[in-house]
Amino acid sequence: MEKTIKVLAISGSLREKSSNTALMHAIIGLARENMIFSVYNGLGDLPHFNPDLDVDDGPESVLDLRTRLNEADAVLICTPEYGNGVPGVLKNALDWLVSSGQFMNKPTAVVTASPTPMGGDKAHDSILLTLNMINATIVEGGTMMIPHINLKLNKEGVITDAITEKGLSSLLESLVEACS
Ligand code: FNR
Repeated sequence: MEKTIKVLAISGSLREKSSNTALMHAIIGLARENMIFSVYNGLGDLPHFNPDLDVDDGPESVLDLRTRLNEADAVLICTPEYGNGVPGVLKNALDWLVSSGQFMNKPTAVVTASPTPMGGDKAHDSILLTLNMINATIVEGGTMMIPHINLKLNKEGVITDAITEKGLSSLLESLVEACS
């Protein structure tokens, strides 16, 4: 029997009609039966990172994030780029994880999607720097930049571009392989 893989999925956008959140759900829809996804919706609830608050009985939202990561075998991040960088809320979450170690050796896949022709390349590079710093295992074949996301994902959140869909299926396969 195939091993069940628990994946925590995180979108870096708080926007209700976020293309990255819709994309994250579309990717979940492509997953094999042995992948169980849990969506983390708490980025907006985390306090601004402050080491003074990072004590044993620290903020409940932070403990919840750490618990959710501890319970996950792997992580999928889908994020936009803002101001040539990682959205502040997502970077803030990662800052809370620098000293606590939840990403240590955690198989992680990263997708950036943007309506621009660049696909969020700066946010992509930047988040990989941070994830590498906290010793996440960036899965080989587990990174993807999607330019012109508005032409590849329709308003119903369905991927309409076959090459993009194939690439995302392959990204999930890479995540599974890394966990096997
Ligand atoms: C953007 N956007 C953007 N896109 C990009 O590729 N690089 C960038 O630096 C920025 N910067 C930026 C700043 C601000 C203030 C806004 C409002 C937007 C465009 C961004 O990619 C687009 O709005 C996406 O649709 C946001 O992602 P979600 O919310 O759809 O997932």
